[in-house]
Amino acid sequence: MALLVAAGQGSRAGGNVPKQFRTVAGKAVLAHAFDALAMCDEIDAIFVVVGPEQEEEARRLLIHRPVAAFIAGGADRRGSVRAGLEHIAQIGGAGEVLIHDAARPFLPPGIVARLVEALKGAAGAVPVLPIADTLVTDDGGVAGATVDRSCLRRVQTPQGFRFEAIWSAHQLWDSPHEATDDAQMLQVRGHDVKLVRGDERLFKLTYPDDFQKAETLFASGRR
Ligand code: CTP
Ligand code: MG
Repeated sequence: MALLVAAGQGSRAGGNVPKQFRTVAGKAVLAHAFDALAMCDEIDAIFVVVGPEQEEEARRLLIHRPVAAFIAGGADRRGSVRAGLEHIAQIGGAGEVLIHDAARPFLPPGIVARLVEALKGAAGAVPVLPIADTLVTDDGGVAGATVDRSCLRRVQTPQGFRFEAIWSAHQLWDSPHEATDDAQMLQVRGHDVKLVRGDERLFKLTYPDDFQKAETLFASGRR
Protein backbone atom coordinates (compact mmCIF):
# COMPACT_ATOMS: atom_id res chain seq x y z
CA MET A 1 0.00 0.00 0.00
CA ALA A 2 1.02 3.63 -0.36
CA LEU A 3 0.46 6.84 1.57
CA LEU A 4 0.48 9.96 -0.59
CA VAL A 5 0.97 13.13 1.47
CA ALA A 6 -0.68 16.17 -0.07
CA ALA A 7 -1.57 18.38 2.89
CA GLY A 8 1.12 21.04 2.50
CA GLN A 9 0.67 24.72 1.63
CA GLY A 10 3.47 24.88 -0.91
CA SER A 11 4.63 28.25 0.41
CA ARG A 12 8.05 28.19 -1.29
CA ALA A 13 6.51 27.42 -4.68
CA GLY A 14 4.12 30.40 -4.54
CA GLY A 15 1.00 30.52 -6.69
CA ASN A 16 -2.66 30.79 -5.76
CA VAL A 17 -3.17 27.16 -4.84
CA PRO A 18 -0.84 24.64 -3.15
CA LYS A 19 1.62 23.20 -5.66
CA GLN A 20 0.16 19.69 -5.61
CA PHE A 21 -3.12 21.10 -7.00
CA ARG A 22 -1.47 23.01 -9.85
CA THR A 23 -1.51 21.66 -13.39
CA VAL A 24 1.54 20.30 -15.18
CA ALA A 25 1.25 18.85 -18.69
CA GLY A 26 -2.54 19.06 -18.54
CA LYS A 27 -3.02 17.22 -15.27
CA ALA A 28 -2.87 18.11 -11.59
CA VAL A 29 0.44 17.31 -9.92
CA LEU A 30 -1.48 15.28 -7.31
CA ALA A 31 -3.09 13.22 -10.07
CA HIS A 32 0.28 12.60 -11.74
CA ALA A 33 1.68 11.33 -8.44
CA PHE A 34 -1.39 9.17 -7.76
CA ASP A 35 -1.50 7.67 -11.26
CA ALA A 36 2.20 6.81 -11.17
CA LEU A 37 1.73 4.89 -7.91
CA ALA A 38 -1.42 3.22 -9.23
CA MET A 39 0.56 1.86 -12.20
CA CYS A 40 2.81 -0.15 -9.87
CA ASP A 41 1.82 -3.81 -9.49
CA GLU A 42 3.37 -3.85 -6.00
CA ILE A 43 0.86 -1.26 -4.70
CA ASP A 44 -2.65 -2.51 -3.87
CA ALA A 45 -4.13 0.55 -2.12
CA ILE A 46 -3.35 4.28 -2.09
CA PHE A 47 -4.33 6.50 0.86
CA VAL A 48 -4.26 10.27 0.31
CA VAL A 49 -3.59 12.78 3.10
CA VAL A 50 -5.00 16.27 2.48
CA GLY A 51 -5.48 19.46 4.45
CA PRO A 52 -8.87 19.80 6.14
CA GLU A 53 -9.97 22.52 3.70
CA GLN A 54 -8.53 20.76 0.68
CA GLU A 55 -10.44 17.50 0.60
CA GLU A 56 -13.12 18.68 -1.81
CA GLU A 57 -10.53 19.88 -4.31
CA ALA A 58 -8.49 16.69 -3.94
CA ARG A 59 -11.60 14.57 -4.54
CA ARG A 60 -12.37 16.59 -7.67
CA LEU A 61 -8.84 16.22 -9.04
CA LEU A 62 -8.75 12.48 -8.32
CA ILE A 63 -12.26 11.73 -9.54
CA HIS A 64 -12.81 8.21 -10.90
CA ARG A 65 -9.59 7.02 -9.30
CA PRO A 66 -9.52 4.25 -6.68
CA VAL A 67 -8.52 6.29 -3.62
CA ALA A 68 -8.59 3.96 -0.57
CA ALA A 69 -9.38 6.91 1.74
CA PHE A 70 -8.89 10.64 2.14
CA ILE A 71 -7.35 11.45 5.52
CA ALA A 72 -7.05 14.86 7.20
CA GLY A 73 -3.40 15.93 7.48
CA GLY A 74 -1.44 17.77 10.15
CA ALA A 75 0.34 21.10 10.54
CA ASP A 76 3.66 19.68 9.34
CA ARG A 77 4.65 16.78 7.10
CA ARG A 78 5.35 14.52 10.03
CA GLY A 79 1.86 15.17 11.39
CA SER A 80 0.36 14.35 8.02
CA VAL A 81 2.27 11.08 7.72
CA ARG A 82 1.35 10.18 11.27
CA ALA A 83 -2.36 10.79 10.58
CA GLY A 84 -2.16 8.56 7.53
CA LEU A 85 -0.38 5.77 9.37
CA GLU A 86 -2.87 5.99 12.22
CA HIS A 87 -5.75 5.55 9.80
CA ILE A 88 -4.07 2.53 8.22
CA ALA A 89 -3.37 1.03 11.67
CA GLN A 90 -7.01 1.47 12.67
CA ILE A 91 -8.22 -0.52 9.69
CA GLY A 92 -5.73 -3.29 10.47
CA GLY A 93 -3.14 -2.39 7.84
CA ALA A 94 0.08 -4.40 7.86
CA GLY A 95 2.87 -5.45 5.54
CA GLU A 96 4.71 -2.71 3.71
CA VAL A 97 3.90 0.92 3.15
CA LEU A 98 5.41 3.38 0.69
CA ILE A 99 5.27 7.01 1.83
CA HIS A 100 5.38 9.47 -1.06
CA ASP A 101 5.24 13.25 -1.62
CA ALA A 102 2.35 14.41 -3.82
CA ALA A 103 4.69 17.19 -4.97
CA ARG A 104 6.73 14.69 -7.05
CA PRO A 105 4.83 14.24 -10.33
CA PHE A 106 7.34 11.80 -11.87
CA LEU A 107 7.88 8.30 -10.58
CA PRO A 108 10.22 6.61 -13.02
CA PRO A 109 9.81 2.86 -13.52
CA GLY A 110 12.01 0.69 -11.36
CA ILE A 111 12.01 2.79 -8.21
CA VAL A 112 9.18 0.96 -6.45
CA ALA A 113 10.51 -2.46 -7.48
CA ARG A 114 13.93 -1.56 -6.06
CA LEU A 115 12.38 -0.40 -2.78
CA VAL A 116 10.24 -3.52 -2.40
CA GLU A 117 13.26 -5.74 -3.11
CA ALA A 118 15.34 -3.88 -0.50
CA LEU A 119 12.56 -4.26 2.08
CA LYS A 120 13.07 -8.03 2.03
CA GLY A 121 16.20 -7.42 4.08
CA ALA A 122 15.48 -4.23 6.02
CA ALA A 123 12.69 -2.34 7.78
CA GLY A 124 13.19 0.70 5.57
CA ALA A 125 14.50 1.67 2.13
CA VAL A 126 14.96 5.03 0.40
CA PRO A 127 15.97 6.17 -3.10
CA VAL A 128 19.12 8.31 -3.13
CA LEU A 129 21.29 10.25 -5.56
CA PRO A 130 24.89 11.43 -5.35
CA ILE A 131 25.84 15.11 -5.05
CA ALA A 132 27.48 16.73 -8.07
CA ASP A 133 28.49 20.08 -6.61
CA THR A 134 31.44 20.73 -4.35
CA LEU A 135 30.33 21.20 -0.76
CA VAL A 136 31.88 23.81 1.45
CA THR A 137 31.11 25.16 4.90
CA ASP A 138 30.12 28.82 5.17
CA ASP A 139 32.36 30.40 7.79
CA GLY A 140 30.65 33.78 8.05
CA GLY A 141 30.67 34.49 4.32
CA VAL A 142 34.10 32.98 3.78
CA ALA A 143 34.67 29.49 2.39
CA GLY A 144 35.61 27.13 5.18
CA ALA A 145 36.28 23.45 4.95
CA THR A 146 35.50 21.54 1.77
CA VAL A 147 33.30 18.61 2.74
CA ASP A 148 33.97 15.18 1.29
CA ARG A 149 30.84 14.58 -0.79
CA SER A 150 31.71 11.04 -1.86
CA CYS A 151 29.80 9.51 1.05
CA LEU A 152 26.87 11.98 1.00
CA ARG A 153 23.52 11.29 -0.73
CA ARG A 154 20.32 13.21 -1.49
CA VAL A 155 17.24 11.33 -0.29
CA GLN A 156 14.01 11.21 -2.33
CA THR A 157 10.56 9.69 -1.88
CA PRO A 158 8.79 7.25 -2.11
CA GLN A 159 10.34 5.70 0.96
CA GLY A 160 9.44 2.12 1.79
CA PHE A 161 8.86 0.70 5.26
CA ARG A 162 7.60 -2.30 7.12
CA PHE A 163 4.37 -0.89 8.43
CA GLU A 164 4.77 -1.88 12.09
CA ALA A 165 8.28 -0.41 12.25
CA ILE A 166 7.41 3.02 10.84
CA TRP A 167 4.13 3.27 12.74
CA SER A 168 5.92 2.49 15.99
CA ALA A 169 8.70 5.01 15.16
CA HIS A 170 6.10 7.74 14.60
CA GLN A 171 4.32 6.97 17.86
CA LEU A 172 7.59 7.05 19.80
CA TRP A 173 9.00 10.21 18.18
CA ASP A 174 9.49 12.78 20.94
CA SER A 175 12.33 14.91 19.68
CA PRO A 176 11.81 18.67 19.93
CA HIS A 177 13.37 18.86 16.48
CA GLU A 178 11.43 18.27 13.30
CA ALA A 179 12.30 15.00 11.59
CA THR A 180 13.39 15.78 8.05
CA ASP A 181 12.06 12.48 6.82
CA ASP A 182 10.50 9.21 7.90
CA ALA A 183 13.63 7.14 7.35
CA GLN A 184 15.43 9.22 9.96
CA MET A 185 12.73 8.33 12.49
CA LEU A 186 13.22 4.65 11.77
CA GLN A 187 16.99 4.93 12.19
CA VAL A 188 16.56 6.50 15.62
CA ARG A 189 14.81 3.25 16.63
CA GLY A 190 17.85 1.23 15.58
CA HIS A 191 16.55 -0.07 12.25
CA ASP A 192 18.67 -0.27 9.12
CA VAL A 193 17.49 1.83 6.18
CA LYS A 194 18.72 0.52 2.84
CA LEU A 195 19.71 2.86 0.02
CA VAL A 196 18.52 2.16 -3.51
CA ARG A 197 19.27 4.08 -6.70
CA GLY A 198 17.06 7.16 -7.10
CA ASP A 199 16.35 9.15 -10.26
CA GLU A 200 16.72 12.86 -11.15
CA ARG A 201 13.21 12.79 -12.69
CA LEU A 202 11.81 12.02 -9.25
CA PHE A 203 12.58 15.58 -8.13
CA LYS A 204 10.17 17.44 -5.84
CA LEU A 205 8.41 20.62 -6.98
CA THR A 206 9.65 23.08 -4.39
CA TYR A 207 10.36 26.48 -6.01
CA PRO A 208 8.52 28.42 -8.77
CA ASP A 209 11.05 27.44 -11.47
CA ASP A 210 10.51 23.75 -10.80
CA PHE A 211 7.18 23.86 -12.66
CA GLN A 212 8.88 24.77 -15.93
CA LYS A 213 11.34 21.96 -15.34
CA ALA A 214 8.44 19.54 -14.91
CA GLU A 215 6.67 20.80 -18.07
CA THR A 216 9.89 20.33 -20.04
CA LEU A 217 10.35 16.82 -18.71
CA PHE A 218 6.81 15.76 -19.67
CA ALA A 219 7.11 17.44 -23.06
CA SER A 220 10.31 15.57 -23.76
CA GLY A 221 8.43 12.31 -23.31
CA ARG A 222 11.19 10.92 -21.14
CA ARG A 223 8.76 9.18 -18.80
N1 CTP B 1 2.98 17.89 3.34
C1 CTP B 1 1.87 17.41 4.02
N2 CTP B 1 1.43 18.04 5.16
C2 CTP B 1 2.09 19.13 5.61
C3 CTP B 1 3.23 19.61 4.96
C4 CTP B 1 3.66 18.96 3.81
O1 CTP B 1 1.25 16.43 3.59
N3 CTP B 1 1.60 19.73 6.72
C5 CTP B 1 3.36 17.25 2.09
C6 CTP B 1 3.34 18.22 0.91
O2 CTP B 1 2.00 18.34 0.40
C7 CTP B 1 4.30 17.60 -0.06
C8 CTP B 1 5.29 16.84 0.84
O3 CTP B 1 4.70 16.81 2.13
O4 CTP B 1 3.67 16.68 -0.94
C9 CTP B 1 6.68 17.47 0.85
O5 CTP B 1 6.65 18.67 1.57
P1 CTP B 1 7.10 20.10 1.02
O6 CTP B 1 7.81 19.97 -0.27
O7 CTP B 1 7.76 20.82 2.13
O8 CTP B 1 5.67 20.75 0.69
P2 CTP B 1 4.99 22.00 1.38
O9 CTP B 1 5.14 21.88 2.86
O10 CTP B 1 3.62 22.05 0.83
O11 CTP B 1 5.83 23.21 0.80
P3 CTP B 1 6.50 24.41 1.63
O12 CTP B 1 7.41 23.75 2.64
O13 CTP B 1 7.24 25.19 0.59
O14 CTP B 1 5.38 25.18 2.24
MG1 MG C 1 7.10 21.94 3.77
